[in-house]
Amino acid sequence: MSKLDTSPYKGVRDFYPEDQFIQNHISGVWRKTLESFGYNEYGASILEPAELYKAKTGEEIVNEQTYTFVDRGERTVTLRPEMTPTVARMVAARRRELGFPLRWYSIPNLFRYEAPQRGRLREHWQLNVDLFGMEGVEAEVEIVNIAYRIMRNFGAADKDFIIRLNSRKLVQKIYSLFDINDDNIQKVSKLLDKKAKISEEEFAKGVREIVGENADAFIELINSPDEIFEKIGKESAEVKEIFAVSAALEALGVTNITFNQTLMRGFDYYTGVVFEVFDTHKDNPRSLFGGGRYNELLALFGDEEVAAFGFGAGDVTLKDFLETHQLLPAYSSSTHVYIATLSKEHYAEVEGVATRLRQGGVNVAVDWTGRKVGDQIKTADKQHIEFVMVVGEDEIGSGVYKIKNIRTGDELSVRLDEINDVILPKIHK
Ligand code: HAM
Repeated sequence: MSKLDTSPYKGVRDFYPEDQFIQNHISGVWRKTLESFGYNEYGASILEPAELYKAKTGEEIVNEQTYTFVDRGERTVTLRPEMTPTVARMVAARRRELGFPLRWYSIPNLFRYEAPQRGRLREHWQLNVDLFGMEGVEAEVEIVNIAYRIMRNFGAADKDFIIRLNSRKLVQKIYSLFDINDDNIQKVSKLLDKKAKISEEEFAKGVREIVGENADAFIELINSPDEIFEKIGKESAEVKEIFAVSAALEALGVTNITFNQTLMRGFDYYTGVVFEVFDTHKDNPRSLFGGGRYNELLALFGDEEVAAFGFGAGDVTLKDFLETHQLLPAYSSSTHVYIATLSKEHYAEVEGVATRLRQGGVNVAVDWTGRKVGDQIKTADKQHIEFVMVVGEDEIGSGVYKIKNIRTGDELSVRLDEINDVILPKIHK
């Protein structure tokens, strides 16, 4: 019989302890930052009825990227490709009981059937941060500031990333200047979204197909933020909004922001300000976070709109960012001490030592394989456990134990009642 393959399914990852350590580091910084801003964590199932995504998630994701199946009860089910429709559903369901403004975050795993490549996988974990019930630009400013603080809390410097801002309302105004009708809005938005990735000729060709004889004027305008502000009007609500957001952010010390008139962020539900955090390193030119205002999404579940602004930040692109900028922490095992044993005769005493250590906050594993001590120590080394204690008859008899740091070779002799006091400061460095 042929053996089973050990590889994971295409485009998903296994997390060996070293990998899970990085995941935990990432989610730890996310959680700490979000909670410091007064956000509470929520969660939901991976499974959702497929129709949840039909209205507003966007054609590309729904038609080409979802994992959808029919269950045994004939329901069409989708593995969530994003969290926003779920959180909108949850907030809409309890709109009357929840207090607003509502500050929520979650770290779900999401599934998109994409061609796996650097920065894009079929399963990723995504921090979702959403603020409901705040209409004013203070919501934009708070959320973008959170995105900025997250990056700083990972150790990034301002020059390592850039925050790009745009407004769908402003883009809408540009479209109306050129009489771009509803049928063509989707097409031209897609084209703008791709602009940085395609050649000028290809972009111009696409614009000509949609805008016709005014194509050159459209291209000229879309290439010049100043002209856009001039044409739409510095006193217009759309331009004033963008200026207000960037001025408030600058006042908070967030200065690595730029206006980017072609930034669209794929989803159909964004209606106002949109933004992304982009890696400035040439080896990793990727979007790390993306989000925007989506005031109309909650109205899909009831009569009323609920103001909403939020973003998603993926673990895959963030890990690439941290690697590229050398900001990843070195792995250390969560097991602090490995006890190597010489014989099973003192089983109860050795386990007693382990229990005492655990009660004092030290994480301990005991090796009862009966192998040579050297081999037991090798296991500790392979698993990156920092401290080893060899416990046999002598140690039990004298009550004095040797603790060796196998990375540095340092060794200490301590009495049982001193062990925790000696080890704890070393492991909680
Ligand atoms: P999104 O722009 O599709 O937004 O994704 C946000 C981030 O998730 C991206 O910038 C990227 O880091 C990561 N990401 C997305 N797809 C993949 C993938 N296939 N593999 C690896 N990473 C990926 C949303 O999903 C919105 N629902 C975010 C949001 C929350 N808007 C408002 N609230």
